[in-house]
Amino acid sequence: MPSDVDLPILRLMTRADLPVADRLRAQAGWNQTSADWERFLSGAPEGCFVMEAASGVVGTATTLSYGQDLAWIGMVLVDPDHRRRGLGKALLGHCLEHLRSQGISCIKLDATPMGRPLYAALGFQDEWPLTRWATDSAPMVEDTGEDGGDVRQLRPEDWPALLDLDRPAFGVDRAHVLQALVQHGSQVLVRSRRDGTLSGYGMIRPGSRAHYLGPVVASDQDTATTLARSLMIRANGEAVFWDIPDRNAETAQLASDWGLTAQRSLMRMHCGPNLHPGNPSLIHGIVAPETG
Ligand SMILES: CC(C)(COP(=O)(O)OP(=O)(O)OC[C@H]1O[C@@H](n2cnc3c(N)ncnc32)[C@H](O)[C@@H]1OP(=O)(O)O)[C@@H](O)C(=O)NCCC(=O)NCCS
Repeated sequence: MPSDVDLPILRLMTRADLPVADRLRAQAGWNQTSADWERFLSGAPEGCFVMEAASGVVGTATTLSYGQDLAWIGMVLVDPDHRRRGLGKALLGHCLEHLRSQGISCIKLDATPMGRPLYAALGFQDEWPLTRWATDSAPMVEDTGEDGGDVRQLRPEDWPALLDLDRPAFGVDRAHVLQALVQHGSQVLVRSRRDGTLSGYGMIRPGSRAHYLGPVVASDQDTATTLARSLMIRANGEAVFWDIPDRNAETAQLASDWGLTAQRSLMRMHCGPNLHPGNPSLIHGIVAPETG
């Protein structure tokens, strides 16, 4: 146990902190990778923080700005030996201060059951629940022959249509985040209509424990199912995590039918006026809890 004289200090995260930050991540059993930490830090070099004790880094938190209207807080982690001493609260309070000083009106996060009381105490309100669906071995779901059909890999010229689909779903433009995911190895599939617009898109990427299926954004259930099937095949029978908003019960049922089990509940929460709530009915898989 830490002594009373070991008062951690809060400071900006640097690249040198990433190996320890990733150890805290692994300790909590989370799925992000070193590449994810690099992405968080390069996306917000002035907005990622650590708590440093005499023994080293014992806490982390990241922020991600979606312009002036919305920002996200993620990777709130405190070493188990240093919990219940106010470090989580201090990290979160600093993130809020940092984002508000930039004039950002609404701040969101996806809370674990452990984090939720802390966030509620700081003024966050529940928005909607989601569930992590997981399997150790992805189902070998039937291949619908996407290469000859209307599901195909993303082409550079699809980006405007993809973003037109995504914006009303998420609430604000998040091109920078989606493009960074693709640069860091996410595979992207789209389903196109005859007129060139898209009825959906979906991604799958590597994680430290499992492939992460998401985001999946679709204008109708058939598209969500078709995309999810084509993405699931890409997990090659290996472990998969998939975070699905609870309101999309048909998609959750699909995950269950494919043998995934509900691993944990998360609550999307917001602080400040939720002026751009998006439409979670269109979201059949989030990007990630630390990202939105
Ligand atoms: C959630 C977490 C970051 C909290 O860190 P922490 O440093 O222990 O939090 P604090 O000491 O600042 O707690 C602040 C307040 O939040 C509440 N709180 C924190 N953890 C709680 C818990 N497990 N149950 C109930 N209330 C809790 C309490 O009101 C606490 O104040 P108190 O101890 O004076 O009553 C830490 O438990 C953790 O890293 N958990 C694993 C990762 C995780 O789930 N992170 C949250 C991601 S959304």
